[in-house]
Amino acid sequence: MHDFKLKNNKLFCENVPVEKIAGEVGTPAYVYSERTLLDHFNKLKKAFAKIQPLICYSMKANSNLSICRVLAKAGAGIDIVSGGELYRARKIGVNSKKIVYASVGKTLEEIEAAVRFGILFFNVESIPEMQAINTVARRLKKKQLIAIRINPNVEARTHKYITTAKSENKFGIDIQTAKKMILSYSGEFENIEICAIHVHIGSQIEQVGPFIEALKKSVRLIEELRSKGARITHLNIGGGLGIIYNKERPQTADEYARAVMPLIEKKNLKLILEPGRFIVGNAGILLAKITYIKDTPVKRFIIIDAAMNDLLRPTLYGAYHEIIPVSCAKCEKKKKADVVGPVCESGDFLAKGRSLPLLLKSGDILAIMSAGAYGFSMSSNYNSRRRAAEILVNGDKYRIIRKRESYSDLVKNEMTA
Ligand code: LLP
Repeated sequence: MHDFKLKNNKLFCENVPVEKIAGEVGTPAYVYSERTLLDHFNKLKKAFAKIQPLICYSMKANSNLSICRVLAKAGAGIDIVSGGELYRARKIGVNSKKIVYASVGKTLEEIEAAVRFGILFFNVESIPEMQAINTVARRLKKKQLIAIRINPNVEARTHKYITTAKSENKFGIDIQTAKKMILSYSGEFENIEICAIHVHIGSQIEQVGPFIEALKKSVRLIEELRSKGARITHLNIGGGLGIIYNKERPQTADEYARAVMPLIEKKNLKLILEPGRFIVGNAGILLAKITYIKDTPVKRFIIIDAAMNDLLRPTLYGAYHEIIPVSCAKCEKKKKADVVGPVCESGDFLAKGRSLPLLLKSGDILAIMSAGAYGFSMSSNYNSRRRAAEILVNGDKYRIIRKRESYSDLVKNEMTA
């Protein structure tokens, strides 16, 4: 569920007509609903209430400080993947013991910043990384907790670019090697303590089956490790919950929790979750204005002022995002069109062959739905386009949580001779 609803043919975000936002802030603009964010977070929290997991919002989905702060205030921890995300997490005052850090390529500088800050776990993805963390921790005279991210060789049944737990993927460590790392290296590295297993199998996963397969492998591994004396206290099962973009029927938070909990109950394990898309995906839309409508002998192009640099998902993954006019009086008659941006690439499209109202015209505002996750956070300045403004709605009020970039922002780090 989300709080973007049509009332008398006008699209509202909570109690604010989004056309008003487009008029006052301009386009392109990302608009988020605070109520939806919290609702999604609380749904997950409630579904798992019996075992009280640590829910670390995966900041890469949408790293805007205000979005993260809303979630942190509601009790979320944060899942980070870079020094930049650590910086953001610190800015919003997240408790360091609620931060987990994954990435196959953490640099020494990034490791040092995270050890100094005292994060809960590094999710370690290779032996050299574990050595690096130990070296840094020794230099800083600290003991750092780590989780080993396993690669369970599970097919997540999602887009191949966002499948992360097949043996050929770069992520995690195969189970045999993980076992060896935990059982034989634990004593060797004095400044780390391996006390968790982490597994994240991919993103936009609709069925609970792959999660359960990975979870079973993780629990089996933990039991074996414990029987050989390892002290594993936490299991982090990552993120990956799919959402509805079009006709998907993804598992609900309740269904997910009902499948997961029996496998870890009575195992004396603290559970960690890392949801991103589930929380923020349907809590955001991208508003764009129609610049021109171009009818050619073969098709109609609706050219808008948002582009692949604003929302890369259709170009990169062939992803579907519903597109609707924010205000629609005579919308019954439809015509198929490609919705495209002004960027100089034929891959610059937001939708292809989409049935949209025939009477749309220049100046009309379109809403690109379900754009809250991996929308702004994957946006760029390609074609020297300024990145969009971001707006957060709460009830009948809205506020700008990121200004639209200016032309001087575009060149502020550049030097001429
Ligand atoms: N944990 C780890 C270690 C991850 O790598 C990710 C996402 C998550 C948690 C959160 O996954 P989520 O709950 O959001 O599925 N750009 C792609 C998605 C990339 C996901 C990367 N990792 C897209 O637009 O579909």
